[in-house]
Amino acid sequence: MSLSIGIHDLSFATGEYVLEHTTLAAHNGTDIGKYHVGIGQESMSVPAADEDIVTMAASAAAPIIARHGGDRIRTVVFATESSIDQSKAAGVYVHSLLGLPSACRVVELKQACYGATAALQFAIGLVRRDPAQQVLVIASDVSKYELDSPGESTQGAAAVAMLVGVDPALVRIEDPSGLFTADVMDFWRPNYRAAALVDGQESINAYLQAAEGTWKDYTEQGGRSLEEFAAFCYHQPFTKMATKAHRHLLNYCGKDTDNDAVAAAIGLTTAYNRVIGNSYTASVYLGLAALLDQAEDLTGRSIAFLSYGSGSVAEFFAGTLVAGYRDHLRTEQNHTAIARRTPVSYAEYRELHEYSLPTEGGDHATPAQTTGPFRLAGISGHKRIYETR
Ligand code: CAA
Repeated sequence: MSLSIGIHDLSFATGEYVLEHTTLAAHNGTDIGKYHVGIGQESMSVPAADEDIVTMAASAAAPIIARHGGDRIRTVVFATESSIDQSKAAGVYVHSLLGLPSACRVVELKQACYGATAALQFAIGLVRRDPAQQVLVIASDVSKYELDSPGESTQGAAAVAMLVGVDPALVRIEDPSGLFTADVMDFWRPNYRAAALVDGQESINAYLQAAEGTWKDYTEQGGRSLEEFAAFCYHQPFTKMATKAHRHLLNYCGKDTDNDAVAAAIGLTTAYNRVIGNSYTASVYLGLAALLDQAEDLTGRSIAFLSYGSGSVAEFFAGTLVAGYRDHLRTEQNHTAIARRTPVSYAEYRELHEYSLPTEGGDHATPAQTTGPFRLAGISGHKRIYETR
């Protein structure tokens, strides 16, 4: 009999601050309907000056280590597209902050927003080879576009940590996967830039083509039929994208594309992304957290995942909710992570957006802002210094 492998625990963290879209709209004169309805976003998380992908990742993973211990974790896979170093894996800092055993491999993965799904699939392969081990998969990103650009309203920040192992308490991940890769320039960030470059309409089209391509491969591989899924967790660069993607898929399959059919499939998955904004690699798994926290009992039901990363690579796969999964959710913690953020004015947001660490050697202390458990204290001789608060 094949092993049951999947997500045993899931925890997320986000930034210290929040910028309401009403504040952004008041600054740039945009009709708020474009944000609230047109792209489906209400607010965006903004990291403090002393927060980054490492502090958010450690904050997301710490409750998992507190609940399960770290002794069985032999691999940490850190997926990000807002990497802080060209050589050292960000997960090594997290491994240290969490006090994980030294008998552990730590690696960073990149392919835009798709990276965490690659990490999850690689984790499943490792667990299949050695069922005694658990793998800590972390997705952590800060989504940053130029000020006053079209992408600005879709910014956000969050980290999701997932413990992957046998007999998972939450979701059993199934075979097959539907895969799709196409060489497109829809969204990219050259090494010398802090903010991403994007061709907005091209990126939406590329996403929809990828969704179609993964579904086609998924069905050819013998996957489930559309009707079998209780819900669909899409990558959500902005929540309206999930609506567009699901409508596209229904249309491709010759199904009814009315608003009710789309809302029933994706409605509950958008709640966290709508107020956090784009968290790139973490986004699709924030969709899962929102679904599980709000849905009625889905035990035994299958849910679909569509993970898209610009450039582009995408994967469609299924997971089934295991008996008792509701006892292991972190609903209250998740609500607190969102509610604890402090609102910022437009001027405060702009200052944070423009803040960057110095690039010449020397010592620099970051402003003490975060109230989270970990902070980036500064940089000294080009070395990032992290501390536990
Ligand atoms: N009331 C209600 N709706 C309104 C409105 C109003 N007053 N004004 C405009 N709208 C609607 C528009 O009709 C449009 O809806 P449809 O897409 O359904 O037609 C929507 O609001 C957006 O309007 P525009 O297309 O005019 O907006 P824009 O030119 O500012 O760009 C965007 C939108 C392209 C998504 C831009 O925000 C962007 O470039 N975002 C970053 C790239 C991105 O997220 N791409 C998604 C796919 S790539 C990906 O998934 C990877 C990733 O994470 C980046």
